[in-house]
Amino acid sequence: MSERQIIILDSAEDAYVRAAEEITHVAGEAICTHAEFLFCLAGGSTPAKVYELMASRFRLSVDWKEVQFFFGDERCVPPDDAASNFAMANRAMLSKLALKPTQIHRIRGEQPPAKAAELYEDELRRSFGIGEDELPRFDLMLLGLGANRHTASLFPGSPALHENERLAVAVEVEDPHRHRVTLTPAVINNAQRVMFLVTGEGKAEAVKDVLEGDTSVDRAPAKIVAPTDGVALWILDRAAASLLSR
Ligand code: 6PG
Repeated sequence: MSERQIIILDSAEDAYVRAAEEITHVAGEAICTHAEFLFCLAGGSTPAKVYELMASRFRLSVDWKEVQFFFGDERCVPPDDAASNFAMANRAMLSKLALKPTQIHRIRGEQPPAKAAELYEDELRRSFGIGEDELPRFDLMLLGLGANRHTASLFPGSPALHENERLAVAVEVEDPHRHRVTLTPAVINNAQRVMFLVTGEGKAEAVKDVLEGDTSVDRAPAKIVAPTDGVALWILDRAAASLLSR
């Protein structure tokens, strides 16, 4: 059954620290119970501060050699491009953790989009040791929210919202970074825990709509996130939560 928890912090800084604490806690639990932490990263700009915290203040709190890093979505650009989600995570955290290259499972944004999606599916199947009709189960999946209500690269009106066969698909979206690869809703909802981190007044309407509105999933894609057998945690600052009624 899906469970939702909402935590509201006074400032964005407090929200980043709370997110880092949560990651540390879930990592510890996952490593204790099954000897590795299967961690799916979000892109965009909001998580950069959290990644920096993980690689500094929280660095000694996680057994990094037991962590496998994945990505929820990627823009179709080379891995050293300023718009690359991998580049952001690498700069803020991965490059500072002395990881083995085999611990990082990135989406190959430099490839043609459909090819990148296929390669990522293969990578997921191999890493999770799953067959054709099985889904990967992340211990923790970080997600962001766009002001237009998208999450990962599931944008309003996207056919990817109704994709039931694939683990990852190429999408073309209304954004300067048009070509992207995203995990599909089935994969996101198979995670043990998803964590939305949303800060700032500019996201307040989207947060209200996704958490309390009756807009359809096609218009507010983040509404599709409801782990089948897991928890959805929302970490918000006061500004992002300012329009919530409770
Ligand atoms: C991306 C994302 C996307 C992001 C939201 C929020 O590649 O753009 O992964 O889903 O999380 O757009 O982005 P910001 O944190 O930059 O507001």
